[in-house]
Amino acid sequence: MGTLAPVPGIRGREEEVAVLADAVDRAVSGRLAVVLIDGEAGIGKTRLLEDALEKARGRGLQVAAARAAELEQTRPFGLVAAMFGGTRSSPDPRRAAIGQLLATADSGDRGPITVTSDPGLQFQAVDALADLAEELALAGPLVIGADDLHWADPSSLLTLGALAARLAYLPAAIIGCFRPAPRVADLERLAGALEAAGGRRLSLRELDGQAVADLVADSVGAAPGRRLLAGMSGAAGNPLFVTELLGALAQEQMITVSDGRAEVSDLTLPPTLRLTILRRISFLPDGTVQALRFASILGSGFTLTDLAVVTGRSAIDLSMSLAEPIRARVLQDDGARLRFRHDLIRDAIYEDLPSSVRGALHREAGQRLAAAGAPASQVAEHLARGAGPEDTEAIGWLVRAARQAAVASPDVAAGLFSRAIGLMSPADQGRDRLLAERAGSLMQAGRVPLALAACRQLLDRPHDPGTDGQVRIYLAHAMLAQGQVRDALGELDRASRSPSLPDAERAAAHAWAGFARIALGDLDGAAASERAAVAAAAASEGAADDHVTTSIIMSTTARISESRGHLAEALEIAEEAVRRADASPSRLGHRFPVAGGCSSSSTGSPRPGPRSGRACGSARSSASAGRWPPTRCTSLTSASPPGSGTTPSPSSRPASRSRRRSARSTAWCTRTACCPGSACTATTCTGPGRRPPPRTVTWPAGATVTP
Ligand SMILES: Nc1ncnc2c1ncn2[C@@H]1O[C@H](COP(=O)(O)OP(=O)(O)O)[C@@H](O)[C@H]1O
Ligand SMILES: [Mg+2]
Repeated sequence: MGTLAPVPGIRGREEEVAVLADAVDRAVSGRLAVVLIDGEAGIGKTRLLEDALEKARGRGLQVAAARAAELEQTRPFGLVAAMFGGTRSSPDPRRAAIGQLLATADSGDRGPITVTSDPGLQFQAVDALADLAEELALAGPLVIGADDLHWADPSSLLTLGALAARLAYLPAAIIGCFRPAPRVADLERLAGALEAAGGRRLSLRELDGQAVADLVADSVGAAPGRRLLAGMSGAAGNPLFVTELLGALAQEQMITVSDGRAEVSDLTLPPTLRLTILRRISFLPDGTVQALRFASILGSGFTLTDLAVVTGRSAIDLSMSLAEPIRARVLQDDGARLRFRHDLIRDAIYEDLPSSVRGALHREAGQRLAAAGAPASQVAEHLARGAGPEDTEAIGWLVRAARQAAVASPDVAAGLFSRAIGLMSPADQGRDRLLAERAGSLMQAGRVPLALAACRQLLDRPHDPGTDGQVRIYLAHAMLAQGQVRDALGELDRASRSPSLPDAERAAAHAWAGFARIALGDLDGAAASERAAVAAAAASEGAADDHVTTSIIMSTTARISESRGHLAEALEIAEEAVRRADASPSRLGHRFPVAGGCSSSSTGSPRPGPRSGRACGSARSSASAGRWPPTRCTSLTSASPPGSGTTPSPSSRPASRSRRRSARSTAWCTRTACCPGSACTATTCTGPGRRPPPRTVTWPAGATVTP
């Protein structure tokens, strides 16, 4: 196979190179710069990004960069973890901790997702990554490169938004590349937000004639003749197409150089990039072509180990087969993996396989990877691509992957559930359960209208009674998030009467019902709901582990006391709630902003004497029942159900340099426009110095919290 030298310089992108250089200069001068590069495949996005990163490294700046992969979109935080080296084996404890956090999410089989299972890990992971980036930037200029964002998993996009907010006043640059089509809603939202915050957008067009001529000259090492240049016109200024056409000509030894001029004798070039690539490949030995086809099943990047697993060939044998495509720059080695020089090269080989063969290869790859202990997301991806209707194996792995992903990325989980449901027959007995879990994931992901629609669709038709209570709670969460407090209360009450609802979930339903009643001004009703929640929790084995419900009950109880004028008691309960939430694993209790109650009880305007609950309640209801939740979420009045977008930031931790900085962060809020202008953090207790000694509040068994 003939080869061409890699093109040393960038041709025809002087303006874009200058914009990127400016961005890095800006970062060095201490301010955040954001540049988004978009353009069709092969147009030169990665080349520009790599050039900017290389120059940044050359200046001694810190660089954190990674690219997303098509087949890894279901790996929560895949892109950003790779970017910052967040692996368990990292020698840096901060990175190892992030790796550990994400590994926790990945490991083991998880039970079905319920209203009390809490994917709080997403908060922690976003925050941990933002903390790390902030610390790095505080130490010196940091350049972040994110390639192929069109394939980024939703949690990584979320994190990038959080990084932009957190690094706003620090020496950092964020450069992201993506294809503009097909459109990805989350990415468009992120890009829009970054542009609105001052980010630059570079939309790459085709290279002009001079740039193409320069590129050809660089590749063939001589000035191109007229016929050779005419042959390149079919590439329409796409540098990948140009280099592939040149590769095809070189391989067939059709380029001759004489008197310093490169020319072609015969110009029967393939009309499309795909055919050009296939023509190049067709000259390789059969064993090599076969290996490339298997490799294309694994995606644009793959490890030799995975390729050995799916082909059943030894790594030594494969490495010999792949030596030639590496030399011909069909494949390249990026250190950890082999990858096709460009996704379009992989796509051409992949799409050349008949679709039934592709499906069968995916299926076999999935089965072999499963036997080799590969992650559920990877196995599920392959099995799903090779699945036919009602394929129980694929459905099983998709569900498994969805439940694992739900911990770190409910968005990904919802997508995986959808794919599993799509493979099931409408009559499948387990379908409603998966529809219910999907609704829960949508709600956790903040997709409120979708969650609402999913719940209604299920409840409005005959459905599995075992899912009824749980789906009603999700529906209530969605309604609360949309300000429909009274309707939400109706659903919560119905849910709590549902005979099939487990006690832990019943406790959650009662707890939220109490919360809703407070918003409607019904203090006595709220107290009764919280008592019922305590009773249901006491009957449930796992209640002590349900930290969010604990927080709701205690916070609502504190609010009831506060509204009745029992301020000392309210403060005491609120402080205890904060202590419990602080001590809860992964600080899950803070998913409900318990700390706001503390400050509300201790710093709120003193009210002379006990007031009638109804009077107090009506005052409250005018503030919070009309539109729920209100805009600020630093007090109990504005707590929100999971995923409604007003979930408190995971930033409520002891003050430190980075923490003080993060007080202005809107890390979580960048996802939804939930708290415009507010820090959206659960605050630490700001109560007065002299307080009564804390009384033990026992929870859940034998609770002394008495609403
Ligand atoms: N301006 C340029 N000058 C020289 N070579 C380029 C230029 N832009 C892209 N290339 C080459 O074209 C190929 C495709 O570019 P790439 O950056 O991977 O495209 P994209 O990321 O937009 O899909 C790569 O081999 C790259 O080195
Ligand atoms: Mg690219």
